[in-house]
Amino acid sequence: MSSTRIIAPSLLSADFSQLGEGLDMINRSHAEWVHLDIMDGVFVPNISFGFPVLKSLRPRTEKVFDAHLMIVDPDRYLRRFAEEGVQYLTVHHEACSHLQRTLSQIRHLGMKAGVALNPHTPPELLVDILTDCDMVLIMSVNPGFGGQKFIPASLDKIRRLRDMAKRKNPNLLIQVDGGVNPQNAGDLWKAGANVLVAGNAVFGAPVPETAIDQMLAAE
Ligand code: DX5
Ligand code: ZN
Repeated sequence: MSSTRIIAPSLLSADFSQLGEGLDMINRSHAEWVHLDIMDGVFVPNISFGFPVLKSLRPRTEKVFDAHLMIVDPDRYLRRFAEEGVQYLTVHHEACSHLQRTLSQIRHLGMKAGVALNPHTPPELLVDILTDCDMVLIMSVNPGFGGQKFIPASLDKIRRLRDMAKRKNPNLLIQVDGGVNPQNAGDLWKAGANVLVAGNAVFGAPVPETAIDQMLAAE
């Protein structure tokens, strides 16, 4: 699994008055996933978008819907995300009191289960539930906003998680989110990442599809 490379452009950095055009660009590109940042204004100091937006976006693309929930008590809404066609559902370790139960519910609803770790949360905390995870998302910024600077200590977290995954769950996908760009993508793949989320580096680029290709090819 460590050789898999997927780009997940984050719609948070797209022009919200033209989200459909943002998706059309992703459809034309080599990005396989669409990253959807759901924020509740409580877990993070920002509010993004929710179910009605997902409903109108879903028919416009066949790419994988990868939802990153930055919300408290996500258990209340797992089923709704399944109904809106989300395929990878990621909850924050810091927002779940009964994480193993939440992950099994996500799988039970037919989705792949992800856990996101804030910059201060060590991957070692997942050692006993790594087989319950299809993906772990290493946050390389503090969540809430696009366009922030990559936190360099994230690289060592990716390496430690990849090491642990070799022993406990070799199929685990490692996703990295925050400040990812064509310049640091090579180091992230090398450290063991499989899925790179990019907002600003894609939607802020003169030709977004080229930025996606550059990240996919980065050494
Ligand atoms: C931040 C979000 C990210 C964000 C990434 O809280 O989880 O997905 O959109 O944006 P960039 O790539 O601009 O850091
Ligand atoms: Zn995200």
